[in-house]
Amino acid sequence: MSSRVLSGIQPSGSLHIGHLIGVLDNFARLQGQGESFYMIADWHALTSKYEKVEEIWPATLEVTATYLAAGLDPASSTLFVQSLVKEHAELHLLFSMMTPLSWLERVPTYKEKLQNAVADLGSYGFLGYPLLQAADILIYKAAKVPVGEDQLFHLELTREVARRFHFLYQTELFPEPQAVLTQTPKVPGLDGKKMSKSYGNCIFLRDTPEQILHKCTREMASDPARVKRTDPGNPDICPVFDFHKLFSSKETVDMVNTECRRAGIGCFDCKKKVAEAIIARVEPVREQIEANLAQPERIEAILQDGSARARAVASSTMGEVRAAMKLP
Ligand code: TRP
Ligand code: SF4
Repeated sequence: MSSRVLSGIQPSGSLHIGHLIGVLDNFARLQGQGESFYMIADWHALTSKYEKVEEIWPATLEVTATYLAAGLDPASSTLFVQSLVKEHAELHLLFSMMTPLSWLERVPTYKEKLQNAVADLGSYGFLGYPLLQAADILIYKAAKVPVGEDQLFHLELTREVARRFHFLYQTELFPEPQAVLTQTPKVPGLDGKKMSKSYGNCIFLRDTPEQILHKCTREMASDPARVKRTDPGNPDICPVFDFHKLFSSKETVDMVNTECRRAGIGCFDCKKKVAEAIIARVEPVREQIEANLAQPERIEAILQDGSARARAVASSTMGEVRAAMKLP
């Protein structure tokens, strides 16, 4: 049984703390448990960035610098760039011949993103986004895919594509990949909604301590019913408390839980405390990202090397796929 791990992130904007504790922690944890492949999905980024292509390579370096800062070791994980492994495109094309259009049209994120996006996403490539993702996963015969909750439907589609391939061509080429979620697959943003670049509610991994302190004390929402310092608050409905649970020590969490309810702590102090906890977690990562970015040649060498390793695996799978489909 394969225990291979594959995942990827699109280089389409700065990574935030939701990425760190929602997926990157799992990337690092899983790298010891089997062969692991971590990709920078630059073709996927093109679905929304096709008019801003000059942003993609710098963002690719930034995602790679972040992978390394989050603890991925290029000696044990294969870090690679999707567009440097052209076999993904070939498998995507072959899948596109056998996948009913309706499967892609019914992907829940599809219509929603289509309506909310800044760029015009009415392209052929954007409809095919989850199918390219299926190719990314299946070409490595990955068994585990660490992702955020928003990707679960894409994983479901990937399994359906694998089953259809097996049924049509009478083979058992692909193991059925399973998603691996962290304990916090959904991290709240400053406003209490899911943290997302498009909501403008993020704490980015490259935010300085000053920026994090500002965001926590000035922008983070708290219990709206607590108006005066002497009003008791309710941590159960307060986004600040959610952050405490994710980043603070158990003692602090217990203290806030008790003191907030009897107005023993003010919201400003509570937010300052949460900022300190977040900074303690993020600052070492930020410093490491900046240090890595100061050596772009090293990052490029890691990506070239990883992409060559990935290509060897991908091209071997494509040999089997072509044989199954009676292609020369
Ligand atoms: N769609 C993923 C995201 O937005 C990125 C991605 C592309 C991916 N290909 C993948 C994730 C393959 C896991 C496996 O986060
Ligand atoms: Fe929220 Fe903290 Fe204020 Fe309580 S004290 S309402 S947990 S910010």
